[in-house]
Amino acid sequence: WWGGVEPAAKDPILGVTEAFLADPSPNKVNVGVGAYRDDDGKPVVLECVREAERRISGNLNMEYLPMGGSIRMIEETLKLAYGENSELIKDKRIAAVQALSGTGACRLFADFQKRFLPDSQIYIPVPTWSNHHNIWRDAHVPQRTFHYYHPESKGLDFAGLMDDVKNAPNGSFFLLHACAHNPTGVDPSEEQWREISYQFKVKNHFAFFDMAYQGFASGDPERDAKAIRIFLEDGHLIGCAQSYAKNMGLYGQRVGCLSVLCEDEMQAVAVKSQLQQIARPMYSNPPVHGALIVSIILNDPDLKNLWLKEVKGMADRIIGMRTALRENLESLGSSLSWEHITNQIGMFCYSGLTPEQVDHLTNEFHIYMTRNGRISMAGVTTGNVGYLANAIHEVTKS
Ligand code: LMR
Repeated sequence: WWGGVEPAAKDPILGVTEAFLADPSPNKVNVGVGAYRDDDGKPVVLECVREAERRISGNLNMEYLPMGGSIRMIEETLKLAYGENSELIKDKRIAAVQALSGTGACRLFADFQKRFLPDSQIYIPVPTWSNHHNIWRDAHVPQRTFHYYHPESKGLDFAGLMDDVKNAPNGSFFLLHACAHNPTGVDPSEEQWREISYQFKVKNHFAFFDMAYQGFASGDPERDAKAIRIFLEDGHLIGCAQSYAKNMGLYGQRVGCLSVLCEDEMQAVAVKSQLQQIARPMYSNPPVHGALIVSIILNDPDLKNLWLKEVKGMADRIIGMRTALRENLESLGSSLSWEHITNQIGMFCYSGLTPEQVDHLTNEFHIYMTRNGRISMAGVTTGNVGYLANAIHEVTKS
């Protein structure tokens, strides 16, 4: 039956974790996957999550959630993206369903886009999270690209981006990273977002925001929703994928939300029913546990405050590691500029290392990262930053 099946190519991100785990070296360092680690390099379960778990135990309920997922979780999740007192939420204009984290939310949207606008395409930034390509490919939505990153400045190619927005056919779909762009760590400024939003209005484009890192850009989820809020102020209808993998550390719980802002409540009811219908033959209804953790935390003001503090703590540790990595490289006498390490934001540093230099780091120094040179700053610690800097210096000095 399966004789013709060839092994699939390794995933460019999760394949790095597999290679890391298989390496017996005691010096090995994993700065591949975007998963937060504490300063001892250990995975973290947030204190607010531990408290939510304590409250859940003894109150076991294994019943199915509705097809659209937990209503309480969705209500609180929408407030994080659209605003605590959003009129759009009050007016019930948002069709929202619980999704299997950010990936599941993007995939549901891509399938929805294909089903109801079968001739549409999606514009994706260069570069983007590698899985975005897989998601829209498997949903059979043709992909176009738009300029985003400027390799020389290691910052935003704003002129290129704006040209592509202007030149795309009216009414195109664009995938935008709401904050903490993955993999580059480069976000438009508030002023630039305003210009982007204005141009989207002129061209009648549709913005689909992937917000996987809310809280990791500025340390404050509210501030990190700024790009979305600008689009809302300008009266756009948007789509949004939200995830609690990173900002609540609920990676394996697969809890997130897909929302689509509609013209009115009637349209939102229709859209939600169709999203549920797409989910039903794939996984029927979403898992209950992660959603319960999120609702407990966000519905309790004290726990929510604790969560906000913990998000800021994670973001601050990463900022500290950016400074440390840059300083270490500079004090080794590197002749290259490493300013971008501290200019970029969020979980990643797009280092500028070539695939060959990355291979060298892996083969000689047991340092694991994706071949596009992305360093997950969340994997950098006080204990390994010196080793990492030294290895980077070794492979980049001429
Ligand atoms: C990453 O970019 O490393 C994370 O989003 C993990 C993943 O699923 O790729």
